[in-house]
Amino acid sequence: MSITREKILVVDFGSKSAQLYARRIREQQVFCQMVGHEVTPRQIQDMAPVGLVFTDNPLGNRLDPAVLALGLPTLEGMTLDEDGNRKLSAFLKETCGCQCDWTMEKFAEYAIEEVRQQVGEGRVVCGLSGGVDSSVVAALIYKAIGNRLSCIFVDTGLMRKGEPESVTETFSKQFQTDLHAINAESLFLSRLAGVTDPQQKRKIIGATFIDCFAEEAKKLGDAPFLAQGTIYPDIIESGIPGCNAKVIKHHHNVGGLPDDLKFDLVEPLKDLFKDEVRQLGLTLGLPAEIVWRQPFPGPGLGVRCLGELTKAKLDLLREADAIVREELAKSEFAKTASQTFAVLLPVQSVGVRNGERTYENAIAIRSVQTTDFMTANWTRFPYDVLETMADRILSEVPGVNRVVYDISKKPSATIEWE
Ligand code: XMP
Repeated sequence: MSITREKILVVDFGSKSAQLYARRIREQQVFCQMVGHEVTPRQIQDMAPVGLVFTDNPLGNRLDPAVLALGLPTLEGMTLDEDGNRKLSAFLKETCGCQCDWTMEKFAEYAIEEVRQQVGEGRVVCGLSGGVDSSVVAALIYKAIGNRLSCIFVDTGLMRKGEPESVTETFSKQFQTDLHAINAESLFLSRLAGVTDPQQKRKIIGATFIDCFAEEAKKLGDAPFLAQGTIYPDIIESGIPGCNAKVIKHHHNVGGLPDDLKFDLVEPLKDLFKDEVRQLGLTLGLPAEIVWRQPFPGPGLGVRCLGELTKAKLDLLREADAIVREELAKSEFAKTASQTFAVLLPVQSVGVRNGERTYENAIAIRSVQTTDFMTANWTRFPYDVLETMADRILSEVPGVNRVVYDISKKPSATIEWE
């Protein structure tokens, strides 16, 4: 069974908006994938589309004429305003004969069936990070093969407030997976003791994660499959068929596993954009708090607690960060801010409380809006939202006497502080 029964290919001629073309087609409930303009007729035949949509062509790139000779319906010069959508809809329905019935429920059914076919009677290991992608993968695979799925969750001690609890609750109670939750906080903190350099912190966190994951995976014996939360933008960035563009990056969710752990990958989200993954999560019944979780870097609070990491500092940051996220959730930016979090700065400053001098920590609030995470602008929160965040942190988090809002764009700043 294939999910690609009715598929359109977007041929990218080097347009800045190529992903937008793909989005527009999927919004019309037709499945589509992207290919580069160097695509061969053979590659197109293998993908079996019902039509081709060409992006704008700012560089005057050429297409192999043999592609046109395949005789597939083509749409050129699709504009991305209202009129463009009408033209697109007519092309999909009338010219290509599409049913326009690609729904998330259908996708879930097909994807579950595909997982069953791929793994047969085998077992699957899934690393749960607490993030949306790995949670949706785990929920989907659980629906496909039940307790032949084993989930490994490593609590690094660098997670946000409530995150380990919500992951373990969801995947041991709601989805009764074979969950292996490892509390590795003291191991992480002992290996990180005294380390202040951000890159060094990242390396130690990454290596310790692999050690914990591999040790637990070995205990599970012969599980031949590893589930990964690879999503469509990861595939696009790693190179789409027929596109010679330089590979931007290769994505490995659990890269660096030792050689004696050999797995075949199960990647059921590889055709979905991020918001489609969230929709699928809702369709599968995951709680909103997991589905709407913001992206969170692998090293977690390790790169938001500047300088040396200690449990006391991380606990303080967790409290401040929880307040920032609670107030964000009440604000008009709840779903439009891309990432919003607190950072514990490595400075103390003078303040005053109840007539007494204090010399305490400073928290920075960081919130950005971005589509690609390569550039970002700071979120224009109304002053009263910022005021509530600051007032609550100052009154509810002991040891903090100053809050600042970060108004740096990326570039020249990055989104994270370390
Ligand atoms: P920066 O700070 O580079 O962040 O502007 C861009 C995006 O990447 C995330 N990020 C990371 N994700 N491991 C990750 O998995 C990392 O080491 C890491 N550093 C940054 C960041 O949260 C933002 O979404």
